[in-house]
Amino acid sequence: MKISYSLESASNEGFPLLRRGFEFGWIKVNARPSMPSALEVNTAWQNNTPILLPSILSDTLSFYQSDLAQASLLMEQIRQGADLSEVLETEVYDSRLQPAFELSGASYEDNDDQAIEKVIFDSWEGDEMVADNLWCKSSWLSFDEEDGSLRFRFSFGYEGYEDVAADPIRQDLAAKLTDAIFPESAAVTSHPALNCLLQTMLNCERVGFMERIVYFNAPNGGAQMHHDVERGHEGVVFAQMNGSTFWLALSKPQLLDEIDEFLRLAPTDKWPRLRELAIDRQALSSYLEERDHEVAEELIDQSPEFFQHLIERDYAFVLEPGDVLLMPQQSLDTCVWHSVICLGEETGEGLSFAIKKL
Ligand SMILES: [Fe+2]
Repeated sequence: MKISYSLESASNEGFPLLRRGFEFGWIKVNARPSMPSALEVNTAWQNNTPILLPSILSDTLSFYQSDLAQASLLMEQIRQGADLSEVLETEVYDSRLQPAFELSGASYEDNDDQAIEKVIFDSWEGDEMVADNLWCKSSWLSFDEEDGSLRFRFSFGYEGYEDVAADPIRQDLAAKLTDAIFPESAAVTSHPALNCLLQTMLNCERVGFMERIVYFNAPNGGAQMHHDVERGHEGVVFAQMNGSTFWLALSKPQLLDEIDEFLRLAPTDKWPRLRELAIDRQALSSYLEERDHEVAEELIDQSPEFFQHLIERDYAFVLEPGDVLLMPQQSLDTCVWHSVICLGEETGEGLSFAIKKL
């Protein structure tokens, strides 16, 4: 096994898995996986299996070191309470945004408790305004004061109401807004070998990268088990730019199988409420889609035993700078669910871009 698990580490070898007060044990990376062939990538994608492309971006990351340092500074300023809109009006960002993007407003998003600030832009071509209400929204990843993880999400229009896939022009402009604020995006979008693999995998001439999110996973932080299905895209590319993250990633049918098997092997008096739900696989599947699925969360997001179970069945990945993880998100029934934990002491940047055929 490439990643081994222990409940405790006698010699402090490896990394602890810690997320918002939950201790999931320790992992040790015994061997880095090798680069899969194009055929293996295609097969895995067709089978809705997550695919790690180790070090695929390593050849280009050195070109983006000053952009990554600037991004890290931005993250730190927002963490310290600076207004994103004010930072984006400083010279370094203004010169990147002009003349295509004009800051038109900011909102503190009182209806979203995890949101920090949404900064809104118009897009211009010469004297003509070509789009309005493109935005960059900063949010905490949790309500935990001890978790400094945050993200910057780029999209447009009325969040939660808009069908973003129906407006490819604004979708493309929101992606270009990401390029202006986080130019290291090009490490993914312009990488020849990665684009070549994705084009073959999706059987298309060109791949679009949209609905972009720039993550900063901090020690003690990360994301609970979730999926990213949204109409209009095929899946998600996650690129680790610096820092390191631990992932559990598996398709929805695999997750349901593993919950089933775990419960079969566990003492029969444990997880009574989940057991009752899991009798009906379809009911459990639908329950996982509910916003509040606390009974399942206790197992899939809070139980070291379930983490161990998934690690021992090879559903774990460790991402180092330059690594890319591909996650098919074609339907609610087949999509890859994933759970993330920051590894080590560094708050690391990751780029999460949805991909679609152009
Ligand atoms: Fe995700």
